[in-house]
Amino acid sequence: MKKPLLFLMALGMLNAASAQNTVQLEASKNPVTINKNIYGHFAEHLGRCIYDGFYVGEGNKQIPNTNGVRNDIIAALKKLKVPILRWPGGCFADTYHWKNGIGDKSKRPSMVNTWWGNVTEDNSFGTHDFLNMCKEIGAEPYLSGNVGSGEVQELADWVQYVNYDAKSPMSDLRRKNGQDKPWKVKYWGVGNEAWGCGGNMTADYYKDIYRKYATFMSDPGVDGGLFKIASGASDDDYHWTETLMRDIPNHMLQGVAMHHYSVDWNHKSSATKFNEDEYFKTMKSALFMDELVIKHSAIMDKYDPKKKIALVVDEWGGWYDVEPGTNPGFLYQQNTMRDAMIAGCTLNIFNNHADRVRLACLAQAVNVLQAVILTKGNKIIETPTYHVMEMYNVHQDATLIPIQVKSENYVHNGKALPAVSASASKDKVGSTHISLVNIDPVKKQTITIDLGDEAYKTVTGRILKSAKLQDFNSFDKPNEIHPQVFNGAKLNAKNLTVEIPPFSVVVLELK
Ligand code: AHR
Repeated sequence: MKKPLLFLMALGMLNAASAQNTVQLEASKNPVTINKNIYGHFAEHLGRCIYDGFYVGEGNKQIPNTNGVRNDIIAALKKLKVPILRWPGGCFADTYHWKNGIGDKSKRPSMVNTWWGNVTEDNSFGTHDFLNMCKEIGAEPYLSGNVGSGEVQELADWVQYVNYDAKSPMSDLRRKNGQDKPWKVKYWGVGNEAWGCGGNMTADYYKDIYRKYATFMSDPGVDGGLFKIASGASDDDYHWTETLMRDIPNHMLQGVAMHHYSVDWNHKSSATKFNEDEYFKTMKSALFMDELVIKHSAIMDKYDPKKKIALVVDEWGGWYDVEPGTNPGFLYQQNTMRDAMIAGCTLNIFNNHADRVRLACLAQAVNVLQAVILTKGNKIIETPTYHVMEMYNVHQDATLIPIQVKSENYVHNGKALPAVSASASKDKVGSTHISLVNIDPVKKQTITIDLGDEAYKTVTGRILKSAKLQDFNSFDKPNEIHPQVFNGAKLNAKNLTVEIPPFSVVVLELK
């Protein structure tokens, strides 16, 4: 049957109208700073993250190091501007007894790392090693305290050991071990995943445990006091957040954590040999972060309307099958353009919710899960995720520019996800940065950006792209995927038109 011309024209116009990507930059009534700690990382005693990752030992003559920590990793993480580093776990934290990791290394007791491969942990990398390494990197340390198998006194002692300047039992011990001045560690996790590996507690039980432990973590002269973070919910366990927010007095709590991995727990795909079904599921799980942040924040708003307490997403990232032939307990996985998509979208979500999300840690920094660095002997790789985090570091401590995004759909097997994700900020010297991600593995996107009232003279940009979604940097070709100059943005008065290729990440700078 012939369709009337007018109907066809109208349909065409409708398609054209709905097939548009638009980003509207808006003026902010209450300016919000994107806390640089959103760009944090996580280093656990797990697999090859610390040993044979960060730490190769003081005596190592093959791999240049500073006090046993690889110089190439220190340099790469400095370039990344890592603001904060969480340690020693994860699940490991609730088995870790910090006093076993101080003093003469040859005399330290060993333990079994029961969560991760049942390997022997010789405690040769301990508190001094970690805190001095953070100094080298220029990152704030974030220590996870043991509440699962540790004692209140043990955690109170750790605080005193690393923070107390005047004479005390623990500062005397620190001095005996060669560190005169305290490190003044501000960020402290009170347990990890208390609902699971941290003790299989109920929210109701943990909230009292938190109150007890936090009471004895006294604040010996850290500027602004300690920043104590309660072990938070897994994914959409909103009851957990509700219980902590309702039953812990606000003044005892500076952050509430939440963990979310981009994973299908029933079917973890290969990190590199995945199909589009698996890609779609990963991205759906990654984008779910937005709903999680909104819903956990709404609960927090009820009890803390002034948003004094931070939502701390201190574990996030993609989780796949381990690389064939590697220890299943070591969680070593390669890192492809799929991971770049996860990183770009997740960081946009955090930026856009910077009023509540003020600390986050990618899991994990080196050789574990969605790592920014992989190592093999004396070689290292900076992964696609590394490059996204480096491109995005322009947002650190910048002022968020609120945006409205209208996106075309990325459709797969009749299911849809928004293809375009974005965030924007203005830095201290007045440059505006807009980060854009197109997760569609096939279609490029044309995006019209309304720049609002600002007048700009120039636009420049960088792009991370590759020929195949499954591409990665290997030890033979470590630089296959790296940021390149992007010329696909056209500035026209107060509008910008950007053409962004499939599965790519772009960061624009406007002056
Ligand atoms: O990052 C790996 C593990 O994932 C952490 O140890 C734990 O907290 C989470 O379940």
